[in-house]
Amino acid sequence: MDYNATTPVLPEVLDSMLPFLRKQFGNPSSDHAYGRPARAAVERARGQVAELLGCAEDEVVFTSGGTEANNLVICGVMELSKARRHIVTSTVEHPATARPCAWLESKGASVTRVAVDQHGCINENEVRTALRCNTALVTIMLA
Ligand SMILES: Cc1ncc(COP(=O)(O)O)c(C=O)c1O
Repeated sequence: MDYNATTPVLPEVLDSMLPFLRKQFGNPSSDHAYGRPARAAVERARGQVAELLGCAEDEVVFTSGGTEANNLVICGVMELSKARRHIVTSTVEHPATARPCAWLESKGASVTRVAVDQHGCINENEVRTALRCNTALVTIMLA
């Protein structure tokens, strides 16, 4: 949403994080005196992100980075979707997206890779045309 992967931390983000890096460093998954305030902070952040994105809190999943997030979604959706075995993606995806798609393809899924124009932009109609009744996921980077 800003510099893609190479992003300086905004001063206000750093200020918000410092208490958790210095003092409240508990594991938010642990139900002990260190963990509980950390969990409360993670849940507060989840609510703020959900409000920003206009979605439900339980739709916000924090990961350690882009590769983990892409693998979780691409492989997770295909794991849940036994009947629909088709993915639409683009020809210019980062390996964090291209590789799980290729891996699923090697396991029998179909992958349609929509080309981009000279500006790197996708034509919406080409994506629509690529959709099939067994399409489980459309995954295209926004950058
Ligand atoms: C578009 C895009 N997707 C995924 C990634 C991978 O993210 P990470 O390095 O956080 O795993 C990057 C990183 O450069 C990226 O630019």
